[in-house]
Amino acid sequence: MPLAARIQNATLHAMVMTAEQAAALIPVGTNVGMSGFTGAGYPKAVPQALAARLAALHAVGQTDARIGLWTGASTAPELDGALAQAQGIEMRLPYQSDPTCRKLINAGQMLYTDMHLSHVAQAAWFGFLGKLDVAVVEVVGILPDGRLIPSTSVGNNKTWLDQADKIILEVNLHQNPALEGMHDIYEGTHLPPHRLPIPLVRASDRIGEPYLQCDPAKVIAVVVTDQPDRNSAFEAPSEVSSKIAAHIVDFLMHEVKAGRLPKSLLPLQSGVGNTANAVLAGLNQGPFENLSAYTEVLQDGMLEMLRSGKLAFASATALSLSPEAAAEFNGNIDFYRQRILLRPQEISNHPELVRRLGVIAMNAMIEADIYGNINSTHIMGSSIMNGIGGSGDFARNAYLSFFMSPSVAKGGTISCIVPMVSHHDHTEHDVQVIVTEQGLADLRGLAPTQRARQIVARCAHPSFRPQLLDYMERAWYGGAGKHTPHLLDESLSWHSRYLKTGKM
Ligand code: COA
Repeated sequence: MPLAARIQNATLHAMVMTAEQAAALIPVGTNVGMSGFTGAGYPKAVPQALAARLAALHAVGQTDARIGLWTGASTAPELDGALAQAQGIEMRLPYQSDPTCRKLINAGQMLYTDMHLSHVAQAAWFGFLGKLDVAVVEVVGILPDGRLIPSTSVGNNKTWLDQADKIILEVNLHQNPALEGMHDIYEGTHLPPHRLPIPLVRASDRIGEPYLQCDPAKVIAVVVTDQPDRNSAFEAPSEVSSKIAAHIVDFLMHEVKAGRLPKSLLPLQSGVGNTANAVLAGLNQGPFENLSAYTEVLQDGMLEMLRSGKLAFASATALSLSPEAAAEFNGNIDFYRQRILLRPQEISNHPELVRRLGVIAMNAMIEADIYGNINSTHIMGSSIMNGIGGSGDFARNAYLSFFMSPSVAKGGTISCIVPMVSHHDHTEHDVQVIVTEQGLADLRGLAPTQRARQIVARCAHPSFRPQLLDYMERAWYGGAGKHTPHLLDESLSWHSRYLKTGKM
């Protein structure tokens, strides 16, 4: 396809330049909103050129030459990796999973604001995040009137294009032009007190148009790239994750039998990572038909379910596919375009819509405590892993909210069920079901001590269960309060013991 077919606006076509020229137009010290969500639809060239520029400035003594970096969610080595390696990020939000970013954040050398993903766009409109100076957004193409064909993720792009003073567009020729029509960009959001209900009542409803609005007068550069998304592979479902999936499928069958769920369930949300992907593989083998998804990320597992026909429709904000799944997607894009809508993340994760649709939320966790509080983000209380992502958007508002994890980590030295979580992301009030390979604890309607009995009996690994029961016994009969009993001197001793001895 000739470039003029991808960039149909003559003024913008005339603004094509190199990534280095475009990066030179980004002032240091500014906030830059970039596209990108779970390794999809992120700019591939400008961030690397900007990283090189910042590194060159550092080399001549301008060590504070950095930017504030806002995205949709995690990106890829060409964006987070390159800018972090150049020590070019002062502050990062709202989610990351990059090893260098993680290292710098945990070393206190990069600030990180870990946010609920549905909150980000509105926080930008409210002015809570400061000024957005530049937007750098990957697109598939530009229409004659300047509207944009979005790429493999939508994320916060609508907001970045709207809020930024200046815009740099990356037109990625590698992205399939047949993505056109797969997006649903809703423009009806307003600030309080002028907000209206969002007119979406089924996962498959289209409420906006397929294109992003863009004021051509704000565009300062157009850069052409030709590179695939990161497309990392998922691990094949392990015995442990297959058991977790089987417990969830059994539970859902039980709920259908009990009349609390329809036969085709309710729209599914599936979190990030290997465990979540394995659960989808389990559902693909399961008895449910004609399913739908109202989720944030469409991973391999969901693509497989669309292909098999188990899943009739999926709404998301991004694709996060392995190379094989990306090839399958591109090879059959006309099939998938009928069955997928990609929306801004403020809509894909919107509490109003999650609640209205009755979403079944399934998210992975790092650890749970005996009362059902969840840590999704921190290792041993102080070090960030990735971030909360959309797990809170879905968990609090879901019809059913699952959290799942293997019962132990790091070769059995860590129990993922602990007396007290070392960091709180989801409180007991947002958590209805906890699942490990050992079993499933249904916590609905239970008081804290009843929850603890279920969680320890069903989800803890047998090698840690006696220790947990011992803790409970002493807390319940020796502690001061009987509602949620804890031994405050001991409740985090499992974590400190691990840090001292390498075993909980
Ligand atoms: N203590 C220390 N490390 C732990 C741990 C614990 N309690 N539990 C897990 N880990 C480690 C694992 O050992 C593994 O480490 P490695 O990468 O060095 O092998 C890593 O954490 C990932 O664990 P894994 O079991 O492979 O899980 P996953 O790929 O399913 O990811 C989360 C789990 C929680 C890290 C991931 O789902 C996440 O970041 N979630 C938060 C955001 C979210 O929920 N988004 C979804 C919203 S749509």
